[in-house]
Amino acid sequence: MEKIRVELGERSYEILIDSGILSSIGERLLRYSVGKKIAIVSNPKVAELYADRVVNSLKKEDFDVSLILIPDGEAYKDYFWAYHILTKLLEIGFDRKSCLIALGGGVVGDITGFVASLYMRGIAYIQIPTTLLAQVDSSVGGKTAVNHSLGKNMIGTFWQPSLVWIDVDTLNSLPEREFLSGIAEVIKYGIIWDKDFYELLEKNKNKILNRDKHCLIKIIKRSCEIKSEIVSRDERESSLRAILNYGHSIGHALETVTDYCSYLHGEAISIGMVYEARLSEMLGFLNKEEFERIRKIFKEYGLPVDIPSVLDRSELIRAVLLDKKNLEGKIRIVIPEGIGKMKINFEVKVEDLMRVINE
Ligand code: NAD
Ligand code: GLY
Repeated sequence: MEKIRVELGERSYEILIDSGILSSIGERLLRYSVGKKIAIVSNPKVAELYADRVVNSLKKEDFDVSLILIPDGEAYKDYFWAYHILTKLLEIGFDRKSCLIALGGGVVGDITGFVASLYMRGIAYIQIPTTLLAQVDSSVGGKTAVNHSLGKNMIGTFWQPSLVWIDVDTLNSLPEREFLSGIAEVIKYGIIWDKDFYELLEKNKNKILNRDKHCLIKIIKRSCEIKSEIVSRDERESSLRAILNYGHSIGHALETVTDYCSYLHGEAISIGMVYEARLSEMLGFLNKEEFERIRKIFKEYGLPVDIPSVLDRSELIRAVLLDKKNLEGKIRIVIPEGIGKMKINFEVKVEDLMRVINE
């Protein structure tokens, strides 16, 4: 089993990664000082595939387990469904020692973490991420959120999990598009932090795309190590953590103008990373060869790299201007100076952004 420790003082926790460990969560939980009441939050699709294994493993160790389902989809990561979960917890008599488990992708993980941070002013929760994106990104770092009708992830808290339990076998049932969406975040770690890792991703494309178990464990581990290192140094995103937003300024804008219907998150940030790299090349920070290399890796993994010609450019630029990372009217963006080397909070001029988006 691979182990990574997220160092955050008294809020430190472990990320454990292996294959076939879903049904040993009960045994593992005995080592934690949690009470006997556990509630698993999931959605019908993931629950049908994996809830039995988790429930049985917990029952075997005498935990008192409830299953709370929310509908599948980003649209349900909202205050109403968070309230629904809170109501269920009150009904089943959850107390301060009780523990929540998020079993699912980033949607389930974000709303469960949000509820855990609110219930009785905060209780423990465990992340069991079942999408690649959740395994390498959303389950680690303690950002929790629900969406508001006026903006995605606008209502949220920082609330770290007590454990992240990653079973790579859950990826066997993940649809190809969802898998590739997670790969975009994995490639992001190579660009923002680790050139050797980037090269490993270039060289092992076939194994990764064939979901070779050992290779998956290796790339998930390295991704989690990089995210842990960043979060440990800057939990609340006062500076360094912003590096994780590479590709997200243009990526989020693309998701917004297409009403979250055309792109999965990883697809949108794949395009975002390519355009933000091009911006860096245009401004003379990134050399042409490295820009081409960045574009090529996303393309070779089957991820989109171009903004479709039918998309209204001015609407897209307006959406970038509304990004919550901007401050005091200035567009702040993360751009690569080279593979493994970034400029954080770079203030970009609207006309430069327009040039790149209009290309
Ligand atoms: P998701 O949770 O919607 O899951 C994608 C789809 O895959 C869903 O239909 C889900 O039911 C299904 N699914 C999940 N696991 C499966 C499995 N093993 N087999 C088959 N199907 C499975 O999407 P996601 O990409 O995991 O997460 C996106 C969410 O994560 C967004 O809400 C985003 O805002 C959030 N996010 C949060 C952070 C953070 O730091 N908190 C970081 C990145 C993204
Ligand atoms: N996914 C961005 C972050 O965790 O900061």
